[in-house]
Amino acid sequence: MVAITETVLRDGHQSLIATRMRTKHMLPAAERLDAVGYRSLEAWGGATFDVCMRYLHEDPWERLRQLKRRIRKTPIQMLLRGQNLVGYRHYPDDIVERFVRRAAHEGVDIFRVFDALNDPRNMETALRVVRAAGARAQGTICYTQSPVHTLESFVRLGRTLSELGAEELCLKDMGGFMPPSDAASLVRALVKEVGLPVVVHTHSSSGMSAMACMAAADAGATAVDSALSPFAGGTSQPPTESLVGAFRGGPHDPRLDLGELAELAEYFQGVLAHYRPMLDLRSLQTDPGILLHQVPGGMLSNLLSQLKDQDQLARLPEVLAEIPRVRADLGYPPLVTPTSQIVGAQAVVNVLVGERYLQVTREVSDYVHGLYGHPPGPIDPTLQAKVLAGTPAITGRPADLLAPEYERMLAEVRAIVPSASEEEALSYAVFPTVYSAYRRAADQGLTADVLDAAAAGLLVALRSPSASAGAESPVATGPSVWARDGRARLMRGGRWVAETRGRAGR
Ligand code: CO
Repeated sequence: MVAITETVLRDGHQSLIATRMRTKHMLPAAERLDAVGYRSLEAWGGATFDVCMRYLHEDPWERLRQLKRRIRKTPIQMLLRGQNLVGYRHYPDDIVERFVRRAAHEGVDIFRVFDALNDPRNMETALRVVRAAGARAQGTICYTQSPVHTLESFVRLGRTLSELGAEELCLKDMGGFMPPSDAASLVRALVKEVGLPVVVHTHSSSGMSAMACMAAADAGATAVDSALSPFAGGTSQPPTESLVGAFRGGPHDPRLDLGELAELAEYFQGVLAHYRPMLDLRSLQTDPGILLHQVPGGMLSNLLSQLKDQDQLARLPEVLAEIPRVRADLGYPPLVTPTSQIVGAQAVVNVLVGERYLQVTREVSDYVHGLYGHPPGPIDPTLQAKVLAGTPAITGRPADLLAPEYERMLAEVRAIVPSASEEEALSYAVFPTVYSAYRRAADQGLTADVLDAAAAGLLVALRSPSASAGAESPVATGPSVWARDGRARLMRGGRWVAETRGRAGR
């Protein structure tokens, strides 16, 4: 049997609607999701923490507590960027320790811990604290392709993660270009050589993800990640229902009820309707270009906007050709936040300036100095000599350079919020500016509900006959034939979906 981790509450909406799903649209389905029989529900971490405060005016900790109250038996899973937690820089160990302990205390059962460079030293503190907190530690191997990434190198990383306390491994194909053959050989080797359960995480970007999941299951994967169909496909995970259907009756049958999934899918179809303006159709399209350049969709849109800002869109082909060269110069980092931005921005500079590395970005300089961790392969000696200019790069664990910060952060946040708790201090420590703005807005009465009312008013205006049509798709509102079929089979007549939608509010 292969188990399923459901991502609709995290990666599904992060990938398709920029992480905008609101807690109030999650809660009505939480108990039903809990009853499905998933291995885990990925529901926290990644970009959700930032987006909750920055755009949704919600407290991410409160979301976690609310979900935990309703999800009683299925483990709640979060994505943790190793020493970067849910942010974009290295935090000192005292912040990492408190954050992980707090998250475990509030309800996270499984921590998927990764590092963009696959540097285990950037994951070790988090893995240790996860174990100490009694939660499950999932160590992550970011999949990529390069001359220095071999089956042996991935297995070596798997072994190291196991030694650091990982109880299971995640093979993470964040770019969505892992072919089924690699999925099979990697899973087989990791299971055999490391001996831990392997979970496979893919994105459908290049169209191969479901095939990769199938191959991974054949090779002995314990679980695969998928998203309920309304939030699946394209830059998101493959659809849960399709995988369950494909596995049904075979040796990997996850034994989940398709009728039950159909009703949940129908509910989330309705949820998606609220976020139509956020959904860029291109993110749903299969992008085989990624097979050639490994540039993930999110990175491509960043490049496009950088070039557009400078009125240089025509130079995109040159930039796309420059990206693999910069990546090679930097020792072939996997392209995932933040390395995708580091490589992309330098490639743009190289092309626009007209001479490679005449200007070096601050981030590339930090990277070459070793501040992000150990690159997978050697850095180009000429670039290295130019950037270091005689000063040595650090070779130790980057976080060892960081002094404890918690007490200072607590004092700072208490200057804004005198009664601030540990939780509020942690939100502030991870995102000082975002948290301060969020808090100020909340104190002035700007809450999620107020935002909602404003958005509803805007929708009414958009729906008026003079406004152009298309703010909401008619397709999204009615049940699909397939969903109706699932319902009919269960003879529930769709009451649950209707009731739940009523509760969630339109
Ligand atoms: Co992902």
